[in-house]
Amino acid sequence: MTVGRTSLKVRNSTNAADDWELAVLKQFDARKAQGEPADKLEFFEVTDHGGQKTFRYMKAIPTGALCLNCHGENLKPEVDAKLKELYPNDQARGFKEGDLRGAFTLAKPAS
Ligand code: HEC
Repeated sequence: MTVGRTSLKVRNSTNAADDWELAVLKQFDARKAQGEPADKLEFFEVTDHGGQKTFRYMKAIPTGALCLNCHGENLKPEVDAKLKELYPNDQARGFKEGDLRGAFTLAKPAS
């Protein structure tokens, strides 16, 4: 089983969503907008993944207060500087408490 994290706004581009993940992240945003609690959002499907029948699952990750230290709007200068050094293409800033930060993503080939 492969396990990862992804988001519509990634800090590390190796976490970027593929097409299936992108569609699920958008679905989570829409479901949250319709009032579903962020910590209950999940979705799974058996789907074709690179020619292989695969079980895929995602669960949303809400943004908590702690997360704002590194993903919020007003970062400490030293945090800001280090993130710019390590992640020059960082998109994972400007979040507010309660926003969907991203999702866990699992994939397991179906036998
Ligand atoms: C101390 C700083 C720090 C804090 C606090 C922090 N993060 Fe992150 N977060 C990072 C860094 C750095 C990465 C990039 C990790 C990597 O290289 O894969 C990251 C990556 C992520 C990712 C993977 C997608 C991406 O952007 O690459 C998610 C999802 C995420 N964080 C959610 C959270 C949530 C939710 C919280 C609070 C519960 C949180 N983070 C708190 C620094 C932080």
